Amino acid sequence: MATSRAEIMRSSLLPAPRSAFPRSRSVAIGFSVPGVLNRNHRQHQRMRRRSSNPGVVVAAISEEAAVKVAVEKKAAPAPAPAKTKARAALTVRRKSKEDFKDTIAGHLDALADMIGRNIVLELISTDVDPKMKRVMRSGEVAVRDWCEKRGVKGEHVVYTAEFMVDVAAFGEPGAITVANRHQREFFLESIVVEGFPCGPIHFSCNSWVQSTKDLSSKRVFFTNKPYLPSETPPGIRELRQKELKDLRGDGKGIRKSSDRIYDYATYNDLGNPDKGFELARPTLGGEKIPYPRRCRTGRPPMDTHMLAESRIEKPHPIYVPRDEAFEELKQGAFSAGRLRAVLHSLIPSLIASISADTQDFQGFHHIDNLYKEGLKLKLGLQEHLFKKIPLVQKIQESSEGMLRYDTPKILSKDKFAWLRDDEFARQTVAGINPVNIERLKVFPPVSKLDPAVYGPPESAITEAHIAGHLNGLTVQQAMDEAKLFILDYHDSYLPFLDRINAIDGRKAYGTRTIFYLNPLGTLKPVVIELTLPPVQPGGPRTSMVLTPPCDATTHWLWMLGKAHVCSNDAGIHQLVNHWLRTHANMEPFILAAHRQMSTMHPVFKLLHPHMRYTLEINALARQSLINAEGVIESCFTPGPVCMEISASYYRTHWRLDQEGLPADLIRRGVAEEDPTQPHGLKLLIEDYPYANDGMLLWSTIRSWVESYVGLYYPDAARVRSDPELQAWYHESVHVGHADLRSAPWWSPLSTPDDLVALLTTLIWLASAQHAALNFGQYPLGGYVPSRPPLMRRLLPDPARDPVEYETFLANPHRFFLAAMPGVLEATKFMAVVDTLSTHSPDEEYLGEERQQAAAWTSDAAAQVAFKKFSAEVRRAEKEIERRNADPARSNRCGAGVLPYELLAPSSPPGVTCRGVPNSISI
Ligand SMILES: [Fe+2]
Repeated sequence: MATSRAEIMRSSLLPAPRSAFPRSRSVAIGFSVPGVLNRNHRQHQRMRRRSSNPGVVVAAISEEAAVKVAVEKKAAPAPAPAKTKARAALTVRRKSKEDFKDTIAGHLDALADMIGRNIVLELISTDVDPKMKRVMRSGEVAVRDWCEKRGVKGEHVVYTAEFMVDVAAFGEPGAITVANRHQREFFLESIVVEGFPCGPIHFSCNSWVQSTKDLSSKRVFFTNKPYLPSETPPGIRELRQKELKDLRGDGKGIRKSSDRIYDYATYNDLGNPDKGFELARPTLGGEKIPYPRRCRTGRPPMDTHMLAESRIEKPHPIYVPRDEAFEELKQGAFSAGRLRAVLHSLIPSLIASISADTQDFQGFHHIDNLYKEGLKLKLGLQEHLFKKIPLVQKIQESSEGMLRYDTPKILSKDKFAWLRDDEFARQTVAGINPVNIERLKVFPPVSKLDPAVYGPPESAITEAHIAGHLNGLTVQQAMDEAKLFILDYHDSYLPFLDRINAIDGRKAYGTRTIFYLNPLGTLKPVVIELTLPPVQPGGPRTSMVLTPPCDATTHWLWMLGKAHVCSNDAGIHQLVNHWLRTHANMEPFILAAHRQMSTMHPVFKLLHPHMRYTLEINALARQSLINAEGVIESCFTPGPVCMEISASYYRTHWRLDQEGLPADLIRRGVAEEDPTQPHGLKLLIEDYPYANDGMLLWSTIRSWVESYVGLYYPDAARVRSDPELQAWYHESVHVGHADLRSAPWWSPLSTPDDLVALLTTLIWLASAQHAALNFGQYPLGGYVPSRPPLMRRLLPDPARDPVEYETFLANPHRFFLAAMPGVLEATKFMAVVDTLSTHSPDEEYLGEERQQAAAWTSDAAAQVAFKKFSAEVRRAEKEIERRNADPARSNRCGAGVLPYELLAPSSPPGVTCRGVPNSISI
């Protein structure tokens, strides 16, 4: 019986001629309401019973429609299986614009489809045939109307296919395979299958389906029903394994753009020694320089360096697994697409247009003009640019061919705020880098660097420098009362200063800035220490200690000192906090998730929105931002040692267990555990906008993760016995973060609490933490005098260079401008950070209600928990709004003070200085 049923099913796989399937007005199987479905199913059962002809099975799909299916007569009068029509609707996304090549290929595929080279589907049951002990398949059917719908306009086209299945015996479909026998890949958004008693079955695909000529195996998509590995129905167990094996690949060869393989490599592709010795860069990752792993591309080595991977230069993209890449023609709409255009077209034009004699800004008005009149580009370049970059098209309309920048938000309410000390201090708790301020616990501060190399570790700051600024407190009293805080960039810069300062036009110090917390709750800087490394190993370090100014000369020196602090802050922000701690740290977790957890794994489903486009943006960054002589090196003070500073932090400080917000605040001494407080934390700087709003979002994310994890992991045994979950975490640590795998601080993954902590941290980093560090880059950092990413001069010193000192005294204003980035560096930096600060129109924000709630998971309890999370996020947004209007909060409300909105979850597209996307996509 089972054999004959299987044979029968196979014999009726291909679509019958249309005349064999007469349609009545309700033949379309619109089973969208469960009740209707059940009714239809019961009807179908009744019709089955009524059938009187033993040789013909009547498979009814509605009251009005009945389809006769001929089956082979058997000698024995055993009841023949009832076959029902089940319909699949495939939503395919088309390119919005097709070029000539696409059009021709589209026609060829349509023709090929007519002669039988089709898109072919097959349903796979969750059950196994009990007698034959093999997976039940519906048999293959071809997608209809591909050719006929060739001319249909619109971004989405829905195609159908029909299966004839004995639904009672087949059980519930668990997977569908898709074979693309056309020449071209196509983007499959979703498949919905109707006609089974369990109701409509959703396959959320969102994937490129390659032609079988490129990838011989069929694609497999699982339904949106989450399954832990141990609960995988028998019919799809093997497929679950096979799909993961395919995604892991064999670790060999050069990856083609059509591949879907997720694998690891070190950062051995940042340099370009084939082009010149000065472009060689050390490999990041490995015992020598620990670093997270990146996505493997398998490109051949350099000619001159066997261990360095050869580069892919613009405009060719670096490999990322196919579904991680943007559709080429839609790229202009995506943030990464705009960034690519800026990097590949605008920046070369800036370089060509800005001549050596306009290296320095001639005055502050010169900078202001960038926002008013714009920057004159060389003739001939403009037209080329306007065609390529949407950003510049907008500029052209409004300013007749000049490259005009938007006025950064930081200037919008109070143009001169940046000159004030209170604003300088406010930025440490509500600016673009609010994550480095620490409580001062030892005075004077002490360096942890090796004294044999860097000399005596004590700071040159004494009590006498700051005693007058502490409201009558002694330093000890102020420390005891948690009134002193520090921004310490001494140890992070000092080991690199000899190399940085040897570069013409790059100058830096190790800096320390101590702040006093006023009774009003705001901070004020009370001392800045600028340190240079010893001339001889172990010799004394040279330090300059600056205190708040009391005359014109000390005012300008103080301004220059603050500029150096900001430059160091900008470097650590970009290289450590933004790039390393969010972008680079997440990459291994994303690679491991795709390699080790099935798309039907509930944890994969939870993480999926938080992994969107991260591999693509990181690949683009390696190609053009963090590479040798890329944007970061050319715009930030440390130049060629930028990424070594990033790696140095990874080796000495980074630990995942302290990347969650509460742990980070406690580590920095700015918060203490206190169960009586709303989030279990007492902030020592009460009005700390980043931490205040951050804790609100952290708690919201944590509650959501707790409810979600609780649905699948009621106890520790479930966590420990989940092989995919354990393999994911193990690989993230042991391969993705291999260089730190032996560190003692890695948390175990043994209990539901461990899992909640891990997932909350990753979701926090991908969403809120990245948003706080990313989307204010232009609004808060686009005015270079207030936050220069690069410094070109040390402070004037009559002992070191009396002539230079005289120049400073004669025109401090010009000296300040000459110490800042030049015109080219500034305009390049501004163009890039403007793009980095932009939300694309298709951004998906934290807690945003998903358009198709049922598509991501069929688990109703998970959907309910998500709805609750959405409501909590909206409440958090309202609370943030309220805080920004509260005059008691001087760090975000007051005369000309910018509100702190970087953690306000929603945002329109564009540069808005707010909005928390789900993932790191820019
Ligand atoms: Fe970013």
